[in-house]
Parts: sequence; C-alpha cells; structure tokens
Amino acid sequence: MAGKPTIFVTRKLPEAVEARLIRDYEAILNPDDKLYSADELVEISARADAILPCHSEKLTAEVIGRLPDRVKAIANFSVGYDHVEVAAAKERGIIVTNTPDVLSDATAEIAMLCMLGAARRATEGLDLVRGAGWQDWSPAFMVGSQTTGKRFGIIGMGRVGQVTARRARGFEMAVHYTKRARLDGETEAALDATYHETIEDLLPHCDVLSLHCPATPETTGLLNAERLALLPRGAIVVNTARGALVDDEALIAALKSGQVAAAGLDVFNGEPSDINPAYRSLPNVFALPHIGSATAETRDGMGFRAIDNLDAIFAGKEPGDRVA
Ligand code: 8YV
Repeated sequence: MAGKPTIFVTRKLPEAVEARLIRDYEAILNPDDKLYSADELVEISARADAILPCHSEKLTAEVIGRLPDRVKAIANFSVGYDHVEVAAAKERGIIVTNTPDVLSDATAEIAMLCMLGAARRATEGLDLVRGAGWQDWSPAFMVGSQTTGKRFGIIGMGRVGQVTARRARGFEMAVHYTKRARLDGETEAALDATYHETIEDLLPHCDVLSLHCPATPETTGLLNAERLALLPRGAIVVNTARGALVDDEALIAALKSGQVAAAGLDVFNGEPSDINPAYRSLPNVFALPHIGSATAETRDGMGFRAIDNLDAIFAGKEPGDRVA
C-alpha cells in the first residue's frame, strides 16, 4: 500500500485517540458525531482501507456485501460485535476485531450501580426528590432489599463477569455462575465462585442475577418466562450486556407480579429510541442509557486498543483481538 492506510472512523472519538489516528493514518473523522445511514457508511467506505465503527453502526450482511474490496478490516470500538455480521465479513475476507479487557472495570461498576439502583429503589427515590414529592419520612418509607451477604448469580463468566464477581465479593456476596466452559480451578477458587452446569441449575441460587454473555443467536431471549420463574421470588435482575438476552414481555410481567422485585438495566432491545415503554414507567426499573463503558479512561482505552489492532493488521501481523 502506497502511503498511509485510510481509516474511516464512524463516530467522534476521544481527542487522544483521534490524535493518534491522525498521526499514524489518513483518518476520515466525524467531528459532528453524525449517525450515518447504511448508504452513507458504504459511500464513505469507498475511500477507506479499514472502518473503525461503534455498536451504533449496523454492519449487516447487506451493508458488508456492498463495501468496496478496498476495505480490509472492521476494527470495532466495542467488545460486543453483534452489530457486525461476522459471517458476511469472513466471506469477504474482511478482518474483524473488538476491544476486550479495557472496559471490564467500567462495565462492572455499572453492574453494581444497576444492582444497587434496583435493590434500593433509586428510581422512586429520584422521582420523589426531583418532583418535590418528598414530604414525609417514616421507618416504612422506601424500604428496599439489602444485597450485602446475598447470592450474586452470573450468566457468562467472561472478562466482565469475572470483574463483576470480584466487585460483588466486595459486598460479601456469594458468587454463583454458569458459563459454556467452566473456569479453571485456580480462577474459580480465586473468585470463590460456585459453578452450575446449566442456567436452570443456577437460577434458584440467585438473589441477584447479572447477565454478562454476548448476544448471539443462541443467547437471544435467554431470560424468558420459564427461566424467570426459576428465580427465588423477589430476585433482582441486572443487565449490562445486551438487551437481546432478555424476553421483554416476560421480564415486565415478572416485574409487575413481584416475581422479580426490581431490575437494573443499562441495555435494551430497541435501544436507544424504541425500547419497551414499560421500562420508562415501571417504578421498580432502574434504567440507564447504555453507558457501561462510558468513562474517560475506558473510552481512551477502547480507542487505543482498536488502533493497536489496526497497527497489527497494516503491519501484516495478527491483531490481538481478532474475532473473524
Ligand atoms: C460501548 C458496549 O459503549 O463495547 C461494547 O460492547 O456495549 C459498550 O460498552 C459500545 O459498544 C461502543 O461501541
């Protein structure tokens, strides 16, 4: 390749990340942070050797099929890559990478916030204070559930799941988990975590259930009515992974019946603008707008990790975080 490779950066990234891109590449930046349509993505990609997208860009098989041959890589600014049809990229010989590790701490923090926000009725509390409806106090006022010493269940004990388990241990919670491949004995012992072979085996042991697996065809809708019924009555559900893991109708019914006492959710089906309206109004839902990795440190870390992958690819080496 003559000259520097051209990278199409689909969203506005942190200053230090863009500075490194400008230094080492021809960078097509998006200073206005516009959300591009599929046609715009294809059109701008005509000038690019690689794309650096976020989860806001849906790289479907159709879009990938229309990318010019010039595009060699999709270096995601995200750990999840369900927004990219990996099989289509593979077929076109396009390398796909993600950004693991660097967002585990930030996402685990949001999982704790979601757990506490749900358990301690933060939505109702905020509404009372902000709406000036807080006029009285009594011992029976805003009584929630305590998480200290309770059981914290994890579906998907990968990088984020493991950091979240350690944070839950900080609340003296007993960690239970399930995972496609059981952790090695040393890691499991260090986390003091109890393994369950199936989701069905795990659920009865969860006072809090936290989801940490990727969205794939196999995990879509995994938290359904049958499984919610296996939780102890009054359990708390936390989702900082992907909305697709949850059957919304089933969770909302469980939140209304009290089977699930409260949910702390950072991710939704139909996000950002088309989420189930019940999540906006139920008092026992503590909801955040997909900000699990939204800290200054982590945003920089994600950008640098995506560039590390591009650097390897354009040096003819294997990128550290290749997923396809
Ligand atoms: C990111 C995420 O903000 O990395 C992920 O998979 O879900 C988020 O934390 C987002 O994907 C950035 O593109």
